[in-house]
Amino acid sequence: MHPKLHIEDKGDTITIRVSTGSLPDLDQVRAIVTEAHATFADDHTGVVADYIPALARVSPDLFGISVVGVGGRDVGIGDCDHLFSIQSISKPFVFALVCQEIGAETARDKIGVNATGLPFNSVMAVELNADRTMNPMVNAGAIATTSCVPGATAAEKFRFIQEGLSRFAGRQLEIDQEVYESEAATNLRNRGIAKLLEGYGRMYWDALEATDIYTRQCSLNVTSKDLAVMGATLADGGVNPITRERVIDAPHCRRVLAALATAGLYEQSGDWLFEIGLPGKSGVSGGIVTIAPGKGAVGVFAPPLDEAGNSIKGQLVTKFLSERLGLNLFASRPDAA
Ligand code: DON
Repeated sequence: MHPKLHIEDKGDTITIRVSTGSLPDLDQVRAIVTEAHATFADDHTGVVADYIPALARVSPDLFGISVVGVGGRDVGIGDCDHLFSIQSISKPFVFALVCQEIGAETARDKIGVNATGLPFNSVMAVELNADRTMNPMVNAGAIATTSCVPGATAAEKFRFIQEGLSRFAGRQLEIDQEVYESEAATNLRNRGIAKLLEGYGRMYWDALEATDIYTRQCSLNVTSKDLAVMGATLADGGVNPITRERVIDAPHCRRVLAALATAGLYEQSGDWLFEIGLPGKSGVSGGIVTIAPGKGAVGVFAPPLDEAGNSIKGQLVTKFLSERLGLNLFASRPDAA
């Protein structure tokens, strides 16, 4: 194991302050989201994922944008009620649930939180890093995370994930059986990654069962609105802004967002942070969720992807909204944006 950077609190009594403001008023948010949809609706670049056969059949023209504020305000336009499988966007939420169960420090020790700089399904990332898993947002770390989920059987573990992600969304999420079966029949690479990790002592449940549970979690159906509610729960210190249920504790929440900022867009995470200045997570079915801590979250659904597997319109819309809604974490003054 490499030495980890641990910065201890000095233990003094301090006044906790946050670095964020609030979203513009609802009418302004609605106008800006409407403008974003109109601006990018005619962008037809990118291709729909086809390495999972069932995903290849989706219409490339679907396009929905949702914004949910930490106070529960909600704006949606376009195909924001269209169901699609959550895919990799499940990763931060399962990591959050695992942090809540075993503690964020233990989760960091078991999985890692550094950037990989490599594609989401990289085997090289496992080989190059002495700790083997590097981050819960890429497949190796995500399958290891799923293997840490509590439960005496695979069915119990999946139920924990389904119920946990449903609490993030504020409604019961169900599996897209066709997507699950299609991916389960073709996910040899993920099974290989899990077996490789098992060989290195970095799997915490049977490797093939953990891969199957991970494949099921990726097949849970969501809408762009669900993504925005789930993201807004992380933006709200772990409290769902619609149901007001606490899903995870605030200290875990900010650590999940840190892990997300390092690898949420895989090898493009640095470019994403440079352009957008917020933690975000993409999935191959065309979703992207982006979290503005203390303010809310943006969920976009638009299936055509770039070469790294990230929704092209999702990235364009999120950059547009980050600038227009004033979300960039690194911007200190409007005129310095
Ligand atoms: O493991 C996989 O390959 C898929 N279930 C999820 C990959 C994914 O969403 C990558 N995202 N951009």
